[in-house]
Amino acid sequence: MTLSSETESPVRPTARARVLFQLSGSIAAYKACHVVSRLVQAGYEVQTVATASALEFVGEATLEGLTGRPVATDVFARGRAMDHIHLVRWADLVVLCPASANTINRLAAGLGDDLISTMFLAHDFDKPYLIAPAMNATMYRHPATRRSLGQLRTWGVEVLEPGSGQLACGEVGAGRLLEPERILDALVERLDRLELHRDAAESLRAAEDPHAAEDLHAAEQPHAVWPAARSGARHRFLVTAGGTAVPIDGVRTITNTSTGATGSAIAAHLAGAGHSVTLVHARTALLPPRQLTDADEIVSDTSGRIRLVPFTTFTELDEVLRHELATGAYDAVIHLAAVSDFDVDHLVVDGKEIVPNPLGKIDSGETLTIHLRKNHKILSRLGQYASPSNAGSNRLATSHPLIVVGFKLTNGATPAERLQAVARVTPGTDFIVHNDIAEMDSDCHPATIFRNGHACRTVTTKRELAQQLEQLIAARLTELTGRSIVDGQEHRA
Ligand SMILES: Cc1cc2nc3c(=O)[nH]c(=O)nc-3n(C[C@H](O)[C@H](O)[C@H](O)COP(=O)(O)O)c2cc1C
Repeated sequence: MTLSSETESPVRPTARARVLFQLSGSIAAYKACHVVSRLVQAGYEVQTVATASALEFVGEATLEGLTGRPVATDVFARGRAMDHIHLVRWADLVVLCPASANTINRLAAGLGDDLISTMFLAHDFDKPYLIAPAMNATMYRHPATRRSLGQLRTWGVEVLEPGSGQLACGEVGAGRLLEPERILDALVERLDRLELHRDAAESLRAAEDPHAAEDLHAAEQPHAVWPAARSGARHRFLVTAGGTAVPIDGVRTITNTSTGATGSAIAAHLAGAGHSVTLVHARTALLPPRQLTDADEIVSDTSGRIRLVPFTTFTELDEVLRHELATGAYDAVIHLAAVSDFDVDHLVVDGKEIVPNPLGKIDSGETLTIHLRKNHKILSRLGQYASPSNAGSNRLATSHPLIVVGFKLTNGATPAERLQAVARVTPGTDFIVHNDIAEMDSDCHPATIFRNGHACRTVTTKRELAQQLEQLIAARLTELTGRSIVDGQEHRA
């Protein structure tokens, strides 16, 4: 494969991430084709590499047909002699799937006698290297394989642990390739982070360097983001993300499935666009790339970094928001945190009432009944927290409006049910984003933004959602204040 100047360019504002997808000789190779196909469909650039044995299981035509690129197989192929270096540099992420026992053991031994092992020697671990082993259970248990997997892990290889079950050889046990959908999830999760990080870093560079910004503009494609980086608009955002945990005792909690990924993606977009962003996040939430966050929690309007404030429980989140909104002079709150509607009131173990002790551990009896009490709706109090009546507030509510964005999640709701769900959200919320968990996967995040009960935007990805919210909030602030902010300067609208 010849790398064009386009693929070598360091500035790729909207290109999808590049995956070097390596296959070794396992009967599970056909399952890997499904993963390859889904990655290509999702828009990632995928280059396959196959061992000679892998090609006994799936044909070159299949892999080339799926990716639109010839498969790389040979270190000494004419015209492709430097693939073992170039392709490793080209990739944003490398995955070996399926990883045969033979290839795992050879990588761990540091051999370089075929393309995949030579590429492994050329890998510097600045970028992710994942392997998805697939083999007979005895091969997987073999001390050579165990030791090699341990060795690879110490070098920074991420092992996507195989599942257990019926194997092709008829045995039952561990060694079965992790389900393709799970592999896909793992890859997309890492690729999303890489893209976010890369785009935000490029956006920051463009915001600092006007010529780079022009280049970015010239290279704009339909899904290009960061309009504010180009306009220089700057606002103060507070984003909440992740789920609250309701403690039962000092070691057990009730929580929800929120990962915080959407809130982090929105926070990263806004920071990349030059806004000041505080991310109030669950301690378990997926966070934006480390380079974008401010570990020392100092807010800076111009650093492009995100100030992080963690929470675990409902009470903690509520108190953080009360304090932040009283003191932070925010322009907008984007409240995505999945907040529990209930807290534990008391517990009954084997008929005996127990007052919850956040430091203790209740004995597991035969029966446990958890009595819950309703929490208040944080969304409905955000405006109040930001008003001057909030004790100690230094906020001038009349001259400094707060835009509130709420989220409503449904699960497999009909169109009518969705509208009803949106209508139940706190009145006075400036924008309500509806999404339905049944429609979301790692690639797709369909959502509808409502204003005054009417749908005003629909989006299909987290990035589009972040971009649209940024634009709508800026427009609403201009509407309310008669002022717009361009290049960090206030202008009368
Ligand atoms: C039908 C068949 C299925 C195989 N399945 C696996 C497998 O799932 N995992 C594995 O490690 N080896 C498996 N092997 C053995 C490998 O293909 C063999 O060790 C080969 O040399 C691996 O080469 P490679 O690691 O260079 O791709 C299988 C062999 C055959 C004939």
